[in-house]
Amino acid sequence: MAEEKKVLGFETRQIHGGYHVDSTGSRGIAIYPTAAYHFRSCDHAAGLFELSQPGNIYTRLHNPTTAAYEERIASLYGAVGALAVASGMSAIFLTVSSLAEAGDNIVAAPFLYGGTYNQFRISLRKLGIEVRIAKGDSVEDFESLIDERTKMIYVESMGNPTCDVLDLEAIGALAKHCDVPFVVDNTFGAAGYLCNPFDWGANIVVDSATKWINGHGTAMGGIIVDGGNYDWGNGKFPQIDGPSEGYHGLNLYKTFGKQAFIVKCRVDGLRDFGCCPSSFDSYLMLIGLETLSLRVKHEVESCRRLAEYCRNHPKVAKVSYVGFEDHPGYKNAQKYYRFGASAVMNIELRGTLESTVKFVEALQLMGNMTMIGDSISVVTHPASTTHKQLSEADLKAAGVTPTLLRLSLGLEDVEDIIADFEQAFTHIG
Ligand SMILES: Cc1ncc(COP(=O)(O)O)c(C=O)c1O
Repeated sequence: MAEEKKVLGFETRQIHGGYHVDSTGSRGIAIYPTAAYHFRSCDHAAGLFELSQPGNIYTRLHNPTTAAYEERIASLYGAVGALAVASGMSAIFLTVSSLAEAGDNIVAAPFLYGGTYNQFRISLRKLGIEVRIAKGDSVEDFESLIDERTKMIYVESMGNPTCDVLDLEAIGALAKHCDVPFVVDNTFGAAGYLCNPFDWGANIVVDSATKWINGHGTAMGGIIVDGGNYDWGNGKFPQIDGPSEGYHGLNLYKTFGKQAFIVKCRVDGLRDFGCCPSSFDSYLMLIGLETLSLRVKHEVESCRRLAEYCRNHPKVAKVSYVGFEDHPGYKNAQKYYRFGASAVMNIELRGTLESTVKFVEALQLMGNMTMIGDSISVVTHPASTTHKQLSEADLKAAGVTPTLLRLSLGLEDVEDIIADFEQAFTHIG
């Protein structure tokens, strides 16, 4: 893969990665809608089950369509392997549960997607895994929380929804210094096109493939990507470098070397938790990936254009766009993100909750949904959706005001989106 990365550009790998012409000559990658696979003999089956030979056993663990998708993702990241799962949330859970157990802790960034925050704060706590949220995004904020039971540092390469970007290289260096795996949610980084955390010290990447990878809002998915650059033989992870309970004492690190972590996520994680994708969804991801860079480039440019329009509009009180110098993430986004931005921004309207709702409902092109990375431009009103259950104090702490809107730009002509804004503004005073 690393060799391939050196030779071929991102745009080439997003089409050719994982594509091997089969015996039929088919241009399209085949969808294999199967649960099980015929074994050639009982010996063959035994070899597959004890992991002494590669091959398909059951779609919960392997599927040829999904394997092509995984190979394409690994190629895009220049990684040693990838595992496709049913959603971004399951990618995060499989990663954490492969590395941490009751009594361990993980140290996480203060800016996280709400679903991740809940998984960490509520569900992991019930499993006995402590999540220590850093007070700020400085190296010291993270360092002060790390101890000998810390099993990972966890951050988002761009926080959802605030678009904050922390100093990935500095946090990566801290993780290396403390000998702790550095895990980065790179959903906003568009499979490495906008941001590749492996260039900055990440050991593992997780993504919600539901967003830019699929790109059309047609399937849920998540991926785990293994950089193959963490020393699992350092004595901290006996579940990887030690006798495996589930595989007759097999040592995954000694057997699979650099791929030990991603193999563990598959053979223990997928086997035991079962959050596998369907072959059809993997096919949709493969199709989405073929146009990833083109879509993202257009969407980022449209977002910049809409941000400029909003900045000059009298009915907009505030524009929070990471491509503008007044955004706290601006400097790091310039360093870590191609184009220094993503396709997501936040605005606050002048007025009230009621007038904001009126504005949202007057929009004709933007979908009123909770989604990002779709080919349809999307507006989300957190106060009446994602943050509806929060108290006034919690809303304030989360920075969610009644007039806040999150915008994710799609593939439409941005002049039409601006015209849509213009007509919707006429509905509010
Ligand atoms: C940054 C981030 N991580 C993880 C997730 C969860 O992904 P999924 O919805 O595919 O489970 C999301 C969803 O929006 C997200 O924005």
